[in-house]
This record gives sequence, structure tokens and C-alpha cells, in this order.
Amino acid sequence: MTKITPEITQKQQEKSLENLVESGQLVDLFSRSISYLRVSVTDQCNLRCIYCTPREIGDKLPCSELLNYEELLRVIKLAVKLGIRKVRLTGGEPLVRKNIISFIRRLAAIDGLDDIRLTTNGVMLAKYAADLFDAGIRKLNISLDTMQRERFAKITGADRFEQVWQGINLAQSLGFSPVKLNMVALRGINDDELVDFARLSLTHALQVRFIEFMPIGDATIWGEERYISSEEIKERISVLGELVPVETARMDGPARIYRFRQAVEDRGSVGFISPISHKFCDQCNRLRLTSEGKLRSCLLSDKETDLKVILRTGGSDDDVKKALVQTILDKPKSHNLFEKEGFNCHGQMSRIGG
Ligand code: 5AD
Ligand code: SF4
Repeated sequence: MTKITPEITQKQQEKSLENLVESGQLVDLFSRSISYLRVSVTDQCNLRCIYCTPREIGDKLPCSELLNYEELLRVIKLAVKLGIRKVRLTGGEPLVRKNIISFIRRLAAIDGLDDIRLTTNGVMLAKYAADLFDAGIRKLNISLDTMQRERFAKITGADRFEQVWQGINLAQSLGFSPVKLNMVALRGINDDELVDFARLSLTHALQVRFIEFMPIGDATIWGEERYISSEEIKERISVLGELVPVETARMDGPARIYRFRQAVEDRGSVGFISPISHKFCDQCNRLRLTSEGKLRSCLLSDKETDLKVILRTGGSDDDVKKALVQTILDKPKSHNLFEKEGFNCHGQMSRIGG
């Protein structure tokens, strides 16, 4: 249940709820202002990464279980009224959802929302890059765990490396910026490529981000022996040169960014996302909407608010706003992965959206 500090009474909570709805601000009980909404538009994916458990193609969630575009637009508009300024579309793979481009155009037309980003596995990027740019997206995160074709097929279940690489290059030449590559570091699987990935930041204007492997979902290949800390990654890539820290804004997320000293200004950078070794919960400004219309205040806690029910039983705009605010008020101070036996996050990454 809610991690409310004991000194906060029920009455005070109700008061905060009303005040927050009226004030048009999302601030949680730990003074974190929440301005970033991640929206999983589908749990479907055209890949099957070994550490993720998207639904099998034959095992589709009925479309009616997903929030439709009208519902998503309604929720996002209300969230923007409450202070959300940045929206990231995730999945599964967002580009597999039908008519996604026209949805993005409508999203871009929302007053007050001028930062819309997309996370993709890149498989359909070459096909959609120009349309995405035209619809108003400028910032892309692309998941890529290997640059070796055969290994890509082993990790993702599909021989699509060339296609993804083509998408990455096209996105850069079309002017998307930044283009970030997300690499989940997995010992014994792709850690012999850490230096190759880091080297990309010397030759391409890419931000190469190394992500610590997290124990999420029920059917992953998680094992502590697979986990590699950012510290170790940093040490291993520093054979390429000295890493100089780069300042970033809170809005730009929890990655700690560096540049190799010899990297020329307009070239790339490397980043470390360290949910395990450097918890960034005290900086967290995120709220998540899952593909089935559940609000989730923390990736690593299974507590969710069922927004779809509110939307489909005639809930008013105020009811939706209250659900958004209440979810924020329930946001835990920090995750407690590893403090309990086993996992405390059983949600599927492909449904929650990372
Ligand atoms: N640990 C760390 N990162 C993960 N991702 C998916 N599952 C995990 C995990 N268990 C990453 C994907 C993608 C992003 C959305 O989350 O590779 O880059
Ligand atoms: Fe698809 Fe991303 Fe899961 Fe890979 S990690 S299967 S790309 S949703």
C-alpha cells in the first residue's frame, strides 16, 4: 500500500489531493514535481529480446483492452493541464501500433506539450523516420544491445540488425537530435562489445547509454551474474581515453553523461543509467501509463491505478485528474529492489514501457 510517511494523515492527504488538482501541479509527498509522462501505446513487439517478455504474436491482448487514441489524447491533455511537459511514447514497440503517426500529429497539437519523444527498437525506423520527423518528433531513443548481426538475432529472436542500423543512420541524417542508443549490459552476452559501443560516440553524434540490467518481469534471464555495474562499464571503456562529465538538466533524465576528452564538440557522448548502483529515485519526475490504461508511479513497484475503468464508466475530467494526482501522491520514496527476497516487480516491461 501507499508509502505515506506516518505524520501525513488521511485528512492532509485529501487536502493535498484537492489542492493539487486545483493548483494544476503534480508534486508528490517528497517534493518531487512530476513533469514527465511515459506512455506505453502497445504491449506488442516485433522482437523478443531475451530479457523481456512481450506477448507472443498469437497471444494478443484484444485491441479493446488497450486505451484507444481518443482515450489516450484525453488523458494526456488532462495530464498536461496538471503540469506534464514531456511525453515519451514507448511499447512494446510503439511503431507497430496502427495509425501511430496520425496519433502523434494529434499529440503534437496539444497546447503546452512541446516535448514528445519516442523509444523504439529501430526495426521500423527507416520506414517511419521521415513521417515521425514531419509529425514533430525530434528526440529518439533506440534500443540496441549488440552490433553483431548474428548476436542480434540471438538476443532479439530476429535477424534485423541491418535494418535497425539503417534506421539509426537515416534518423541522424534527417536531423533527429539527440539520437540516443540504449544498450543493456549483460555479462557473458554482450559485454565484449562495451568498448565498441563507447567508440561509436567518437565517430557518430550519438549518445550511447549503458543501462544496468534490472530484475523485471517473471520470465527474464535475470541473474546477478549477468548484472554489470556502471562503475565497471566505465572502467572498461576508459581504455579509450579520459571521460569528462557533461552537465545535464533534470528533464533530460537520470543518465550520467560523459564525453571522451578527445571527442570533438559535435560528436557523441556516453551515458550511464544506473537504477541499481546509483538509485535516482530522489530525482524521479516520472509517471507511467501502461498499454492497458493503468497508471503507475514507479517502474519497480507493482502498485497501479486503473484509469481505463474511470474512462469507460463515464468518469469526468476531474475524476481523471484526481486519479493522476492520487497516483502521484502514492509514489514511493524509492524502490526497494533487493531489500526483499526475490523480485518486487512482476510487471512485463513490454506492457509498462520501460
Ligand atoms: N533491465 C534494463 N533495461 C531493460 N530494458 C528492457 N528490459 C530491461 C531490463 N530488465 C530496456 C530496453 C529498452 C528500454 C525500454 O528498456 O532495452 O532500451
Ligand atoms: Fe521488444 Fe523492447 Fe522487449 Fe526487446 S526489450 S522485446 S524491443 S519491447
